[in-house]
Amino acid sequence: MKTKILIVDDDSLVVEFLKEALDVEKYELHSAHSAESALTRLRSESFELVLSDIRMGEMDGMELLTHIRELAPKTVVIMMTGFGTVETAVLAMKLGAFDFIMKPMSPESVEVRVKKAVEYIKLNRQVVALKLDSARRYSGIIGSSKLMTEIFDRIRLAAPSRATVLVGGESGSGKELIARAIHEESDRADGPFVKLNCAALNQNLIESELFGHEKGAFTGAIQARSGRFELANGGTLLLDEISEMPYETQSKLLRTLQEREIEKVGSAETVAIDVRIIASSNRNLAEAIADGSFREDLFYRLNVISIEVPPLRDRTEDIPQLVEYFVKKYSEENNREIKHVDREVFEVFKKYPWPGNVRELENTIQAAVVMSAGKTISTLDFSLDASAIRKPLANKLEFESLTLHELERQLILDRLQRFGGSKSEAARSLDVSARTIRNKLKEYSEFGDVDKMSGNGSTSAE
Ligand SMILES: Nc1ncnc2c1ncn2[C@@H]1O[C@H](COP(=O)(O)OP(=O)(O)OP(=O)(O)O)[C@@H](O)[C@H]1O
Ligand SMILES: [Mg+2]
Repeated sequence: MKTKILIVDDDSLVVEFLKEALDVEKYELHSAHSAESALTRLRSESFELVLSDIRMGEMDGMELLTHIRELAPKTVVIMMTGFGTVETAVLAMKLGAFDFIMKPMSPESVEVRVKKAVEYIKLNRQVVALKLDSARRYSGIIGSSKLMTEIFDRIRLAAPSRATVLVGGESGSGKELIARAIHEESDRADGPFVKLNCAALNQNLIESELFGHEKGAFTGAIQARSGRFELANGGTLLLDEISEMPYETQSKLLRTLQEREIEKVGSAETVAIDVRIIASSNRNLAEAIADGSFREDLFYRLNVISIEVPPLRDRTEDIPQLVEYFVKKYSEENNREIKHVDREVFEVFKKYPWPGNVRELENTIQAAVVMSAGKTISTLDFSLDASAIRKPLANKLEFESLTLHELERQLILDRLQRFGGSKSEAARSLDVSARTIRNKLKEYSEFGDVDKMSGNGSTSAE
């Protein structure tokens, strides 16, 4: 696609010169002999680039420039003049010119400067396209860190198929939001999105919730009822906290996934279903398999595509955007006019380990918006557990006086803090088993160490 350029100069020799200098293969060249006629054209058609002289009849180039900034803010303007001073150049830039060329100009220099402007225009176009794209696709999921961008790629990859997806990640990290995005991006978007929390339900209840039941199937089953599988037919079923599903139910779920049909409780009949399953868990399923509470075969069936949502403390770059989003959301909801968040707030947020992840950040902002007296949010408007703010490991002096036992204890507590209390993650980072960590903690608590230690986060040897 050729770049559309408007040349504005009252000197027709200059116009001819520029038309010669610029490659007609790359550019679609138009001209105007006064600022007024240029404006008339700009009102009815759009140009990507304007090359304008400064000294012209009634209206000069600077005035034209200010009109263009208002009329077509995306149009890039290069000013040219034979009477240039540093001051005029500075003024032109201040008024929003992209570049400033002194006459006389050589064909080469014109070509180079125009090329630079065109590169900028193209880049800008890409950025706009990207922004539109991400807003359309992931409305509601905020984040532009590398880790979140990778998650978006995986959502894009997973969405179109019927494949089962396993979404892992700490509490409040956004698993449900991601499950919904997969549904919304899939060709089932017009179908239902149904969710069932597998924790806190016993086997009978969960099976009747999942598969439905016939009238009289058990005491209390006064009426026949459809299960979530049926309700989700043609759409997506999110099985939340899948690790907590009773073992027996896991076998039934496995069978359903294999056969693509369900059997209502109390019925011998099978019903074909077309449901995409997304399972989520904040517990490490490998651990649940190891301790015998989760079926390995079901795990493989569910884990066709896996998405691991990183904890917020590993993507602190996303915090400012999330803060902005939640401030806006809760200001509107509470009729507040929060215009500013203190820098200090971001410094604290960056160091805080966010054990409750995005949910905790959202709640913190919500409370701050409600509590703040004016138009600004400062560190006074919320309270975070200060002891949890990450502190570096003991300084060198302390380090030198530590025993091996104390060093080990300190390292474990430090890791636990970093991972928001997650023993499995702390264990992984130290390359030991979660059981080792549990045993060590038990050992420390028996000696009364833990409370003392975790209270202030730093551990000095006594
Ligand atoms: N990237 C994000 N952008 C905007 N909001 C987010 C983001 N991640 C999470 N949230 C918000 O944080 C809250 C928690 O998210 P969600 O319910 O998806 O977490 P979860 O991982 O399912 O948590 P749990 O394990 O406790 O069920 C929700 O209000 C959600 O809208
Ligand atoms: Mg959830």
